[in-house]
Amino acid sequence: MGVLSALDPEVDAAILAEEKRQKDSVILIASENYTSQAVKEAQGSSFTEKYAEGYPGRRYYSGCEYADVIEILAQNRLKELFGATHANVQPHSGVQANTAVFFAYLKPGDTVLGMRLDHGGHLSHGSPVSFTGQYYNFVSYGVREDTELIDYDQVEDLAKQHHPKIIIAGASAYPRQIDFNKFREIADKVGAILLADVAHYSGLIAAGIYTDPVPHAQIITSTTQKTLRGPRGAFILTDEEHSAAIDKSVFPGAQGGPMMHTIAAKAVCFNEALQPSFKEYQQSVLQNSRAIADELQKIGMRIVSNGTDSHLLLVDVTTLGTTGRDSTKALESVGISVNANTIPFDKLPPMIGSGIRIGTPAITSRGFKEEDSRNIARMIGKVLQNLDNEEVLNSVRSDVMDLTRTFPVPGIDS
Ligand SMILES: Cc1ncc(COP(=O)(O)O)c(C=O)c1O
Repeated sequence: MGVLSALDPEVDAAILAEEKRQKDSVILIASENYTSQAVKEAQGSSFTEKYAEGYPGRRYYSGCEYADVIEILAQNRLKELFGATHANVQPHSGVQANTAVFFAYLKPGDTVLGMRLDHGGHLSHGSPVSFTGQYYNFVSYGVREDTELIDYDQVEDLAKQHHPKIIIAGASAYPRQIDFNKFREIADKVGAILLADVAHYSGLIAAGIYTDPVPHAQIITSTTQKTLRGPRGAFILTDEEHSAAIDKSVFPGAQGGPMMHTIAAKAVCFNEALQPSFKEYQQSVLQNSRAIADELQKIGMRIVSNGTDSHLLLVDVTTLGTTGRDSTKALESVGISVNANTIPFDKLPPMIGSGIRIGTPAITSRGFKEEDSRNIARMIGKVLQNLDNEEVLNSVRSDVMDLTRTFPVPGIDS
């Protein structure tokens, strides 16, 4: 029994309410997942208190012998998981990891080539509202209008025209395989470093069911909380040549002391990902997202790029006469959590958006199988076809409640 409820009932009540929300909702946010109880225990451990600036064996604080054990475990497990040469497990988040890469290799005003935000890229790939877009000269590639797949000819043309120092391959809302080999060929032609930001895909990559960037990209960044099912955090993998510059740029360049409790939780997560069951989990993540795409197509919805190779899919909801924003609100009201998203060549402003982004990591962690995913897709269809029909919305709300009761939430119920 914890002490929080007695000592701080306000915080305790909010935590319990959040647990209930997570139990009672079908979470289809592509960037969210449920960690295991073991990850949570490590995250809440006494490493919360420990300062350990530096790296194993080279710390600026005393008393780091167990912090060293944890960080070396995390590094070794991560290298084994991805077959990588060098691993830095200290970045606090995905943006921090990208920041460290930029700080290592760029001066203000230097040119970088990344994916357009409104075609699936990430804010930290040069959006004008991010420091990346203000400090560096970002040039952006996108997807082709006919296929909605990355336009590699455009990537090459822009690379030859602008000579970027870094080319970023990676995205937040791109459902298809990324051809890291092709990106590397282009990067080599113009002498750029290839950075693969696989924040979304790293769990699928670790399980061998998404294209592997390790043989191609000199530097790889990823978050740990998405498909990888770890704590909120990130890591950087590099080849030998870039390891020292990246380590120096993470600390002391871009961060202070590492969050050792989170690194402990990352170590647990990497070990979980090394188990055979993780591959089965990721296969199920993909199967579930393909099942949802297929079922939504049957209902007549348009799936961007006509399907998915990953944990996420983008649905063009304008075919039903609605918007991303209105769809998200209606789905939330019945306990289905998705996010509104722009689709490539969107005619609506970003705050409204023509699409919703759906992801299956969290439901798969709860044990949803293909038929459950099809069932959820049919519920989504019902809601989007009956946005103003309270009777239909009430009946879907009760179906969602029935469904969620049958699936325990890892880290809460077990
Ligand atoms: C491709 C990509 N890079 C970086 C990030 C940033 O990660 P964080 O929110 O941990 O800073 C995200 C998060 O959604 C992402 O999708």
